[in-house]
Amino acid sequence: MSSVPSAGPGAKSQPFLSDVKELRRRAREHIAQGAVTPGYHADLDTVVKLLNEALATEIVCTLRYRRHYFMARGIHGEGVAAEFLQHAQDEQQHADQIAARIVQLGGEPNFAPEGLATRSHAEYVEGDTLEDMIKEDLVAERIAIDSYKEMVLYLGENDPTTRRMLEEILAKEEEHADDLANLLQDIGRQDLRHR
Ligand SMILES: [Fe+2]
Ligand SMILES: [Fe+2]
Repeated sequence: MSSVPSAGPGAKSQPFLSDVKELRRRAREHIAQGAVTPGYHADLDTVVKLLNEALATEIVCTLRYRRHYFMARGIHGEGVAAEFLQHAQDEQQHADQIAARIVQLGGEPNFAPEGLATRSHAEYVEGDTLEDMIKEDLVAERIAIDSYKEMVLYLGENDPTTRRMLEEILAKEEEHADDLANLLQDIGRQDLRHR
């Protein structure tokens, strides 16, 4: 396969890129804006606000998974705890990626504990039993999945870098939800066997 992009319909009438001189001229304008060039088409304030909500969601999910990791008890506790810890680490990594992107866009990541739970889309629910914990984590993942999907649609072609980052995170959240659904099934099956 050739790596040269094929010319699509209308390629003749439309130049593939802006005139190079024009690109160079625009790049020299507003250099203090770093990665944000005049070719950035999304509404920056809205994107930074959405990313800060996503950041809060990831922090709340990290905290909830860590709580669950330390509280996991019982015959299934060990295996489930390992899964909780892995998820906590993944959510922490997502939070870091999102915070870094906010800064790249010229915004400020909001790590303030005050209002964290309100900014977050997912909730912090402790859960009394192992099964409750898994269920609450699954609910939180499903909330994250839907909110990331909406953000991806909102960004469209206007900020492909942020969109790609969120798509990667979204894929991980879907994996998390699948892990949790499987854990719930396993626990249900083994409980039946122990009756
Ligand atoms: Fe996450
Ligand atoms: Fe997740």
